[in-house]
Amino acid sequence: MTKAAAPSIDHLSESELIALLDPALLPKHIAIIMDGNGRWAELRGLPRIAGHAEGIKSVREVITLCRDLGIGALTIYAFSQENWKRPVSEINALMLLLEQYLQSEMDALIEKGARFRAIGQVHALPPSALNWVRKVERETAHLDKLMLTVALSYGGRSEIVDAVRRLAQDCKDGKVQPDAIDETLLEGYLSTQGLPDPDLLIRTSGETRISNFLLWQLAYTEMYFTPTLWPDFRRREALLALLDYQRRDRRFGAVPTPHFPPSGL
Ligand code: FPP
Repeated sequence: MTKAAAPSIDHLSESELIALLDPALLPKHIAIIMDGNGRWAELRGLPRIAGHAEGIKSVREVITLCRDLGIGALTIYAFSQENWKRPVSEINALMLLLEQYLQSEMDALIEKGARFRAIGQVHALPPSALNWVRKVERETAHLDKLMLTVALSYGGRSEIVDAVRRLAQDCKDGKVQPDAIDETLLEGYLSTQGLPDPDLLIRTSGETRISNFLLWQLAYTEMYFTPTLWPDFRRREALLALLDYQRRDRRFGAVPTPHFPPSGL
C-alpha cells in the first residue's frame, strides 16, 4: 500500500532527489532483475550483446550508488538457468562479457570495499569465467562495505531443492533433528545464507514477473517494476526507485501502526 500521492519529482536533479531520501528508511538489501538489454540493442539496430555491454554500465552505476548511500547488499540476476536456452553465440558472448567485467572491475570493487560472491549453479560456467568468479570472490572476501551477489546460472526452485537435499542428508547423518527444522534453519542452507532478505526488488523493461529469482527470499519484499530498459537504468532511475520504495507502508502482514493509542487501551 502506498501513502498519499506525492508531488511530481520528475523535474528534480540527482542531488535534489538524494536530498529527498530518508537515510533511516533506505533498504538494506536491493535485488535486481536486469531486463531489456536485448530490446535496447534491437531498438538501435545493434546486436543483442551490445545491450548487455551497455547494461554493464548500469551495473557499475547502481553499485556505486549503493556504496555511496551505505546500502549494504545488492543482488543482481545476471544469468538464469533458463538463459542456457539462448543461442550459443549469445551465451558465449555473455560469458566473455562476465569474464571481462570481473577482470577489469576487480580493483574498482576492492576500492569500493565491495565483496563479490556468485550464487547459482556456478560450476556450469565455462572454466575461464569460473576461474575469474572464484578469483574475485577470494580477493574481495575480506571486504564488507557492500555485499555484491551475482546470480549466475541461478534458479530459485533449484536453490530450494538443493537446500532441502543437503538438509535431508544432515538429518540422515543425525546432525539435525527433523523437529528442529524451522525457517531460520532452512535459510541457513540457502545460497544467500547470512544476507538479510531483500527489502526492494527492481525489475526493468516492463515485465512484471519474478522469473524464478530468490523465491524464498522475496516473501515480503517490495516490488518496483519500471518500463525503463536495463541499459537506461542509471543512477537517476535508481534514485526514483528508492524514493518510490520509501513511500511504501511495509506491514509484513500486520495491521497499520496507529498514530495514537486506540481509546480503551
Ligand atoms: C536480460 O535482458 C539480461 C540478461 C539475461 C543478462 C544481464 C547481464 C548483464 C547486464 C551484463 C552482465 C552482468 C554482469 C554482472 C557482468 P534480455 O537479454 O532478456 O533482454 P530482452 O528481454 O530485451 O531480450
